[in-house]
Amino acid sequence: MNIEDYRDMIPDFEKFVARMNEPQPYWLRVNTLKITEDELIPRLEDKGFVLERFAGMNAYQIENMPVKHPGATVEHSLGYYYVQDFSSMLPALLLSPSPGDFVLDMAAAPGSKTTLMAELMKNTGTIVANDISDNRIKALAANIERLGVSNAVIVKGDATSRRFGAKFDKILLDAPCTGEGTYRKNQKERMPNLSDHIRMSKIQKKMLKNAERHLKEGGILVYSTCTFNPLENEEVVQYGVEELGLKIEKVELDIPHDKGVKSWREWSFEKVSDRMIRIYPHLVDTGGMVIAVLKK
Ligand SMILES: C[S@@+](CC[C@H](N)C(=O)[O-])C[C@H]1O[C@@H](n2cnc3c(N)ncnc32)[C@H](O)[C@@H]1O
Repeated sequence: MNIEDYRDMIPDFEKFVARMNEPQPYWLRVNTLKITEDELIPRLEDKGFVLERFAGMNAYQIENMPVKHPGATVEHSLGYYYVQDFSSMLPALLLSPSPGDFVLDMAAAPGSKTTLMAELMKNTGTIVANDISDNRIKALAANIERLGVSNAVIVKGDATSRRFGAKFDKILLDAPCTGEGTYRKNQKERMPNLSDHIRMSKIQKKMLKNAERHLKEGGILVYSTCTFNPLENEEVVQYGVEELGLKIEKVELDIPHDKGVKSWREWSFEKVSDRMIRIYPHLVDTGGMVIAVLKK
């Protein structure tokens, strides 16, 4: 496939392509389980960091830094902040787990969203953080430890089929995907082909089906990917609505984004497109993310 396949799907396509070819800035969030923004930000600025706070949120674009990588500081080792693209914060923010909630993070490693959810939950309640990859689970454990998260249990299993033995208030399914929204960061050259998207879509549907099985009545499930192709996004969410009986929620989001895609090639996604959220690199200076908030 070629990026041109998305010309009719993505608004301001020329700007999108130009932005995809620019290096992606780093972002960070302050880990308020360990330190306040008011304490940490001046401390990093004294070291030479230039940070731009975004929309009054705990999300800072790093405009300049005195180190090669934003993780190369004592403050990072102490778990005072987490380097995370702003687009990647949104699924957890939209799931918005509360203190005391019982939450399942079905594909959790390396824990960017698990650790953000722990912060939103003020380290109370429980997060069951699952992943299938041993290596990535090591990174998940290291991040949970570094950030001082004490309400997460790590488990290893296949999210397409694993029984978790409980029903949850909230579930995050940040699904494995072809990752087109991260190509800017990695400057990858090869776009996935159609069969890659179709194969991933089938796996994602299995995961969504298993997620629905583990959600309490009235519970909220956020589905997200960091890829643009609608077969991995709108198609999966439409399956959730039509086949699993989930409802797609209307979300008010006060940051630049686009709605879902209505159709692509021979596929149509009219049932869900209006309520899906697409974050593109040329709207805020980030990677890409597509999100749906679903209710049982
Ligand atoms: C998009 S990444 C998750 C990123 C993570 N949520 C975060 O914010 O740090 C997708 C994850 O799915 C995991 N994965 C892939 N197939 C899986 C499966 N069948 N069951 C569970 N996890 C799986 C991968 O190991 C990978 O860590």
